[in-house]
Amino acid sequence: MVLLTSGQVSMVISSTIIFVFTFLLFLSGYLLQQQTVRGLQAAIKPRLPAPLPATETYDPHARLARRPGFRDAKYDNFLQEAEVQWHKLGYVQLVRNHDEVCTAVMHFADLHRDRSPATRILLFPRSWIEDDDADPYLVTSRRLLRTAVRRYKVVLRPIGPLRVADDSSFAYSLTSMFSLTDFDRLIYLAPSGVIIDSLALDSLLAFSPQKRLAALPADPSASKISTSFMVLQPSVSTFKELSAARAERVSDDEALFQQYFDAHSSLLPPSLELDTTLYYESTELRFLGDPDSFNSTAFFGSTSYVRLADPELPGPEYDVPYGKMVELRPKKGEARWAWERLYFKFHHRRMEVCGLDLLTPRKWIQEKAKAEESSGSTEL
Ligand SMILES: *[C@@H]1O[C@H](CO)[C@@H](O)[C@H](O)[C@H]1NC(C)=O
Repeated sequence: MVLLTSGQVSMVISSTIIFVFTFLLFLSGYLLQQQTVRGLQAAIKPRLPAPLPATETYDPHARLARRPGFRDAKYDNFLQEAEVQWHKLGYVQLVRNHDEVCTAVMHFADLHRDRSPATRILLFPRSWIEDDDADPYLVTSRRLLRTAVRRYKVVLRPIGPLRVADDSSFAYSLTSMFSLTDFDRLIYLAPSGVIIDSLALDSLLAFSPQKRLAALPADPSASKISTSFMVLQPSVSTFKELSAARAERVSDDEALFQQYFDAHSSLLPPSLELDTTLYYESTELRFLGDPDSFNSTAFFGSTSYVRLADPELPGPEYDVPYGKMVELRPKKGEARWAWERLYFKFHHRRMEVCGLDLLTPRKWIQEKAKAEESSGSTEL
């Protein structure tokens, strides 16, 4: 029998107490960590969209009659086990010059923020990786391309320019999107804009029927497609035919697509926009039929993409005098707040994502000065 002295007994007791407390501390730390890991897993998990409603034939008036607002709850019940091959579906952007790079990267940053499961693809001039000069604009563009890959998981695809009609010159064209034949379906949103919520767009990518191209109408009569919002299916034959048509007849992308894709068979069914407005233009906020009934909460809760396209402005990436914005903005109420918020958000994101200030609209100022000069001379 082992006899313990009182000193030994108190040591055994104190080491037991230390052991118990150390264990409790470990246990609480472990539980806390597990909770954090689960929280992190939920936070980085892609959001999966629900399937689309059944589509019907096209009625051009349906899009006009629709009022923004009223989100359907089905978009909140994401399908957990959707068998969708997200690596074959993507969002594509094309940049032709250095001024356009940041806007494209912001587009992918928005998709990353929304945890879109689809691939993000950026087409850019091949010369940017071949040229070995130290042009400061090129240096910035390369930095932004690296950011896009590292931070927003963007797939970079260098492309070459295509032949232009009636000319021996070459230029970059949206036609190149059809050459991405390792993808089943792509969405193209014309820049520059703000993705408010990509979920309905993801739905469209995953569940819309196979079609060479599906677009929105260019005007109320729906006689032509618009190239501002397109869901397209890459294919070698479409790419070849379009490139040939471009080299022979039309060099402008919009005119080319309108000629090649018949509006009758290439429009998105408006039922797809019953719950969510997929595409909206900022200028529409200035000409609302009934501005007093505009509800900005409903608007931001049910719109996927807003293109900042006011024809009087050079684009949201350019710095224009504040007086000009005041002159153009919607005259009152929530529409004005929504319009200003979109521009402000874009400016803020440009600094946040790219670390860039607004650009000086040199060409725009020159054109304006020229227009003023010529109007001045007619007055004389
Ligand atoms: C605006 O829309 C939101 C969400 O749809 C709704 O909760 C709110 O009551 C509406 N506000 C007005 C003034 O109608």
